[in-house]
Amino acid sequence: MIDQPTIDRILDAAQIVDVVSEFVTLRKRGVNFVGLCPFHDDKTPSFYVSPAKGLCKCFACGKGGNVVHFVMEHEQMTYPEALRWLAKKYNIEIKERELTDEEKEVQNIRESLFVVNEFARDYFQNILYNHADGKAIGMTYFRQRGIRDDIVRKFQLGYSTTAHDALAQEALRKGYKKEFLIKTGLCYEKEDGSLRDRFWGRVIFPWFNISGKVLGFGGRVLDSRTKGVNQKYVNSPESEIFSKRKELYGIFQAKAAIVKADCVYMVEGYTDVIAMHQCGLENVVANSGTALSEQQIRLLHRFTPNITLLYDGDEAGIKASIRGIDMLLAEGMNIKVLLLPDGDDPDSFSRKHNATEFKQYIAEHEENFIRFKTNLLLKDAQKDPVKRAGLIADMARSIGLIPNDVIRYACVKECATILNVNEQIILNEIKKHLLQRDDNYLEQIKKEKDTTNTLSPSADMVPPPIGTEDNVPPPPFPPEELEAQYQSYIPEEGREKYVFYAKEQLLIKTLIRYGERIMCYVETEENAETPLTVIEYISMDLKQDELQFHNPLHRRILAEAESHLHDQNFTAERYFLAHPDPTISKLAAEMINDRYQLSKYHSKSQKIVTDEERLHELVPHQIIDFKLAILEEEMKHTLQALSKPEVTQDANKCLEIMAHYKELSELLKEMAKRAGDRVVLKA
Ligand code: CTP
Ligand code: MN
Repeated sequence: MIDQPTIDRILDAAQIVDVVSEFVTLRKRGVNFVGLCPFHDDKTPSFYVSPAKGLCKCFACGKGGNVVHFVMEHEQMTYPEALRWLAKKYNIEIKERELTDEEKEVQNIRESLFVVNEFARDYFQNILYNHADGKAIGMTYFRQRGIRDDIVRKFQLGYSTTAHDALAQEALRKGYKKEFLIKTGLCYEKEDGSLRDRFWGRVIFPWFNISGKVLGFGGRVLDSRTKGVNQKYVNSPESEIFSKRKELYGIFQAKAAIVKADCVYMVEGYTDVIAMHQCGLENVVANSGTALSEQQIRLLHRFTPNITLLYDGDEAGIKASIRGIDMLLAEGMNIKVLLLPDGDDPDSFSRKHNATEFKQYIAEHEENFIRFKTNLLLKDAQKDPVKRAGLIADMARSIGLIPNDVIRYACVKECATILNVNEQIILNEIKKHLLQRDDNYLEQIKKEKDTTNTLSPSADMVPPPIGTEDNVPPPPFPPEELEAQYQSYIPEEGREKYVFYAKEQLLIKTLIRYGERIMCYVETEENAETPLTVIEYISMDLKQDELQFHNPLHRRILAEAESHLHDQNFTAERYFLAHPDPTISKLAAEMINDRYQLSKYHSKSQKIVTDEERLHELVPHQIIDFKLAILEEEMKHTLQALSKPEVTQDANKCLEIMAHYKELSELLKEMAKRAGDRVVLKA
C-alpha cells in the first residue's frame, strides 16, 4: 500500500499537462489545453486538459480523470502502478514493500510479460557489451554498418550468441517462469519439454511502446550468413502485449521529435529508422514491411496529422502502399510521398548525406499525395479512355475520404488540373461514393444503437421511465409489508436506474465540488446565525427525514466528508481526488470534470451566475428534487398496490394504503416547506 502522504505528494508534483503531453500533442485553448483523444479514434481534438483543475476529459468518449487515472487508462496500469510510475517521473520516493508469494501469483500476465521482455532486453545488451562474441561479432556488425555507438545505445540494440538455449537457461536460473518465456515468444518448448531460444546468432532490435515498455524484438542474421538463411529477420510472435501490425518501430525514440517537427516520416525497416536518427532526422518510424494498419495510423495521429511516406522508388512497393494511403486520408491525415533516388532506401541514402542535405532533398522532392497518385496512375492509363475513366473513379474514391471540406476541394481542383478534366466530373464521382458511404454509415449506427444502452450516468442523463424493458420494475410485495418496504427503500441495492438516483448523483457532485463551502446561515436556538457548509447541510437535511443515499459509495463519501470537514485546510475536492480508494478518486474526478459543462444560470439581472455563487439555492433545490423523486416513486408504488385484487377486496387494507398515500403527499409538502424556511440568503 502507498500511504496517503505519498499519494498527496505525487498529486502535488504531477503536472497533468506535462504528463498528458508525453502521449498526446496538446495545444492551448483558453485556460485549457486540447488534443486528439488517445482513448478513441478521434479526428478532431476532443480531449481537454485543465491545468488549473489537474483534470482531463474527452468530450467524445468520456474518458479522463486526474493525472493518475490518465496514466492508469493510457498505460493500462493499476492504481498503485500508476502512482509508482508518476513517483518515478517526479523523483518521489516510495518505500516499496517486497511482494508476498500470493501477490506474485496474482500479478497479471501482461505485467509479467513486460518483466520478462525487460529481462531479455538487458540480457541481449549485456551480451553485446560484455560477452566476447558480443563484442567481436555483434558490435563489429553494427560498426561495419556505420551505426554509431550512441545510436546502438539509444535503440537499446543487443546481440545473442549462437548457443540455442543460453537465454532460456539464464532466465530460468533467475526465476523467470517458463510460461512467460513461451508467451512472449522469447523461447519455445521442444517435444522433450526443454526450452529453445527464438533469437540466437542475431543482432537484436527491441520494440517499445510509447512509454518505453519492451513489447517484443526483431533479430537480424549477420551479413556473412545472409545467404542460405531463409529468414533475414525473426520477430517476436503475437502475444498479449505485442502485435507487429499494430505497433510502430521507433515510436518511443521519435515521439518528441514528431511533436516538435509536427510531422513524421514513415519508412519500411529497422535500419531505416536507425540510420535516419543517426543522420539527425529523428521524427521517423517504421511499419516494418507490412501494410499500414489503422492502429498504427491512430498512434501517429495523436502526435501529428502530417505524414510523409518514404519509399525506395520500386513500383511494386508503391502500389501496395496506396491502400494504406486511403486509410490515412480517411483519418484526416495530410499525406506527402517521397521517392528516393533509384536503388536507395532511407538507410543507404542517409549514409551518403547529412541531415541538411537530406532535409533539402525532402523539401524538393516530396509530393502531395493527390499529385503523386494521379501521376502514378496516369502513367499506366496514358491515353486509354477506359483506363482514364477508372482512374478518375479511383481518385474520386480517395479524395472523397478526406474529412475536411476545404482540403477535399483543394484536392479536387489539383486532380482536375493534372488530369485535364472539369472539376465537376470529379465532384460528381465523389458524390456517388459519399452516398454509398452514408448508407454504410447509417447501417453501422443502427447496429450500434441496438447493442449499446449502457451509458454511464451523468448530470444530464434522463433515466428511462419506470417499467420499460431495461428498467426492471420492483418486485411485487404483499401490501402489509408496504410500510417496511418504503422505509428501507433507498438503501436497497440495485435501484440505480430510477430518477432519484440521478438526483442523488447531482447531490454527490455538489458535495464533492463545494462540500466545505459555507452555503447559508441558519437560525438555531443558541445562535441566531450559524454558518452551514454544504456537507453539513446535506447531512442534516437527510437525517431529518431519515433518508440515506442509495449507493453505499455515496454514503461513505458523505460520512467521510463529515468526519474530515474540520481537518485543517480540508477541501472536499482535494480530499476525494487524492482518496486512496481508486473507485472514489475516479468518481471524484468524473464529478469535478463535469464542471467544464458549467451550468450557466441567468439571474434576474441577466448576469451569468455560476453554481458556486448560488449554492444557497442550488443545494436545497437538489435535495428537494432528490426527495421528490423518491416520494413520487413511493407514491407510484402505493397506487400500484391499491389496484391489486387482494387489496381491492379488502376495505381495511385499502384504507390503510390510502392513508399511507396521503401521508406521503403531506410529507412532500412539509419537506418543501422546511427547505424553504431554513434558508437565509447569503450576503
Ligand atoms: N522484415 C521482417 N521480416 C523479414 C523481412 C523484413 O520483419 N523477414 C521487416 C523488418 O522490419 C525490416 C523491414 O521489413 O526492417 C524491411 O525489410 P528489408 O528492406 O528487407 O530490411 P532492411 O530494414 O532494409 O534491413 P537490412 O538493411 O538490414 O537488410
Ligand atoms: Mn536495408
